[in-house]
Amino acid sequence: MEQYIIKGGNPLVGDVTVSGAKNAALGILAASIMTNEDVLIDNLPDVKDINVMLEAIQEIGAKVERVDRHTVRINGGHIKEVSVDDEFIRRIRASYYFIGALLGKYKSAQVPLPGGCNIGSRPIDQHIKGFRALGAEVVIERGTVFAHAIDLVASHIYLDVVSVGATINIMMAAALAEGQTILENAAKEPHIVDVANFLNSMGANIKGAGTDTIRIRGVDHLHGTEYSIIPDQIEAGTFMCAAAATRGDVMIRNVIPKHLEAISAKLMEIGCEVIEFDDAVRVVGKPVQRHTDIKTLPYPGFPTDMQPQMAVTLSLANGTSMVTESIFENRFKYVDELARMGGCIKVEGNVAVIDGVKGFTGAQVNAPDLRAGAALVIAGLAADGYTVVDEIGYIQRGYECFEEKLQSLGAMIEKVDSDREMRKFKMKVG
Ligand code: EPZ
Repeated sequence: MEQYIIKGGNPLVGDVTVSGAKNAALGILAASIMTNEDVLIDNLPDVKDINVMLEAIQEIGAKVERVDRHTVRINGGHIKEVSVDDEFIRRIRASYYFIGALLGKYKSAQVPLPGGCNIGSRPIDQHIKGFRALGAEVVIERGTVFAHAIDLVASHIYLDVVSVGATINIMMAAALAEGQTILENAAKEPHIVDVANFLNSMGANIKGAGTDTIRIRGVDHLHGTEYSIIPDQIEAGTFMCAAAATRGDVMIRNVIPKHLEAISAKLMEIGCEVIEFDDAVRVVGKPVQRHTDIKTLPYPGFPTDMQPQMAVTLSLANGTSMVTESIFENRFKYVDELARMGGCIKVEGNVAVIDGVKGFTGAQVNAPDLRAGAALVIAGLAADGYTVVDEIGYIQRGYECFEEKLQSLGAMIEKVDSDREMRKFKMKVG
């Protein structure tokens, strides 16, 4: 089983370029099948979840041509199936986007209930509420969602919970519904805006994405387009925290600084220097960094997907910090792993009380999910000695060339698949 082996202690220094946003790309790939014309998408991140989505799109009959590692041409004109079902698609959360896309285009969809990181119960009741409001019949049988409509008709939908997935899914289904749908209490993440912009580039009529009220006026059909995915806000934030935790000096390129404001603000609060450029941000860690408090919130609040990475950074700051996780109910699984490295975090309900420590010592740890896995890598980079991170498949779902990008910043990290490779690494780095 592949692992990361890390020898910590090197401050990260240099330039790193961020890939396309995974959570925008997943919605955009699903939406791309809603037209019978060619869609060209570039700046796709080359990560596992994207590749699973592309395979599923191909399996239902769409044409998928990989132009290059980050560019794909898709044509949904020959789809012969509205049933998406394979063992891989069941493992990712974004499989649910096929419901909105297929229901919107074919008025019918059959998709397994989603998988994804085990960070909480992750229901899809708000998605179903939206589809039913548009006139679809939706039932769940044998772990599969069956959705069907004679016609989709606009509705006024109020989300009970601010949900990224439900917002994107309902936008897709409503894009081809008759009349104007109003979606209130919508999520406002950058990837919501990116999916809305993508749909509009296909001829949809969506206004207000990025605010909590989105208006979708249905159109008869969608046409082909060419589109480039926005940079990944969370990958950028992960490298920002890695720079802070290792007391490094890193220029993170191909970012939209506005998307990073909550993360930049918190790193400045603990004493880091954060300098913004048009499409880059530079983070300079300081020898002494202070504690602060974090509460995860829907955008533009502090992102839940940055909570583990920030908790590791706060573990290496002076004083006691409080981290409140208000989005998911099970997103502190990294705390026990971090304790093996000397972390001192107590979890009470949805609050983690973090007592800063002088430093971590390397240990063998397990990645419990995607972002916690990335956080444990950051801990290993800052630790004294060797750290081995297991279950790195989680990390590879959302980070392209993670170890190569870190190596380019001076990190001593390698992906190994055997004790022999582990020994070779230790011989090499000493
Ligand atoms: C998306 O998940 C992201 N995944 C997650 O990123 C991210 O953490 C999350 O949004 C919040 O930003 C993808 O985009 C593939 P939600 P999603 O619906 O859509 C509750 C990563 O690390 N809820 O916004 O599943 C839910 O339980 C991943 O890249 C309902 O109650 O998140 C949660 O408490 C992890 N009913 C809250 O809303 C519903 O129908 C937010 O969930 C839907 C959600």
